[in-house]
Amino acid sequence: MKKPKVLITRKIPEPAVLLLKEYCEVEMNPNDKAMPRNELLSGVKGKDAVLCLLTDKIDDEVFKAAGKQCKIFANYAVGYNNVDMEAATKRGIFITNTPGVLDDATADLAWALLFSVSRRIVEADQFTREGKFKGWKSNLYLGRDVTGKTLGIIGGGRIGRNLGKKAKAFDMKIIYIANSRKVAFEEETKARFVDKDTLLREADFISIHVPLLPSTKHYISEPEFNLMKETAILINTSRGPVIDEKALVKALKAKKIWGAGLDVFENEPYLEPELEKLSNVVIVPHIGSATIETRNNMGLMAARNIIQALNGEIPANTLNRECITGAKEE
Ligand code: DGY
Repeated sequence: MKKPKVLITRKIPEPAVLLLKEYCEVEMNPNDKAMPRNELLSGVKGKDAVLCLLTDKIDDEVFKAAGKQCKIFANYAVGYNNVDMEAATKRGIFITNTPGVLDDATADLAWALLFSVSRRIVEADQFTREGKFKGWKSNLYLGRDVTGKTLGIIGGGRIGRNLGKKAKAFDMKIIYIANSRKVAFEEETKARFVDKDTLLREADFISIHVPLLPSTKHYISEPEFNLMKETAILINTSRGPVIDEKALVKALKAKKIWGAGLDVFENEPYLEPELEKLSNVVIVPHIGSATIETRNNMGLMAARNIIQALNGEIPANTLNRECITGAKEE
């Protein structure tokens, strides 16, 4: 029997590729970089399923190029702001993502950034490597306490709540904002549901865990920096455009806040000029989910979703169930 055809748009860890190969004819972009647009458009043609990445712009042109037989685009990420959901739904194409498997890794990276900024790890590491450490000093790389402080979480989803649970180990007070109250989370962590201004005013550490939507673009900009404590530390492991990066640079330069830890940037991989020159910011290249275990699990989850769709089932991580009734447009 002819196997269904799958395109993987960019090199991903082997376990997912091996799993897909058991059921499908797999074509994978062998390069670890996004396919140029024309190659993506010709690559998806005639495929029954596509495993795509957050660096691919998946819009109606891509769905159309894939053809009517295509059942699913499985996004290798929990965020799916790179996918035109409406177009997929209209064409009856399943879109799936990878929720849950990356919560620990991403929350852990938020903690790593939080500590790196508060304890000035990167600056101090550089200083030591440069041979400048000439002996103990009472004022060498003074940072800020974490234990007992107030953590403000923006977003009450899985990753934000995961971060909050870990804050218990540091005896932190937790305040959060979300679309709705998370009662179980509040019971477990004593987190307090507050409004945005209260969170910005009271938090010593602010960590962002919201998806990128029109309503969350520049959610943190100049007015928000004006409300924060001068000692506040801002962490972002969600999506870059949630922060107005120009306003952030201004706030960091003017020492309106103590510092920031960023895994994501407004126009990735481009960085706002001056960001890299500032010592009160720690920047890493979108590695929130980048552990061997997590990336394997993300790949396996995407592959399983594809296999389910090809078997005529509704994939477990479907984001647009309503696509089932969506007409297959020409
Ligand atoms: C995601 O999954 O959305 C992350 O940004 C990459 O793992």
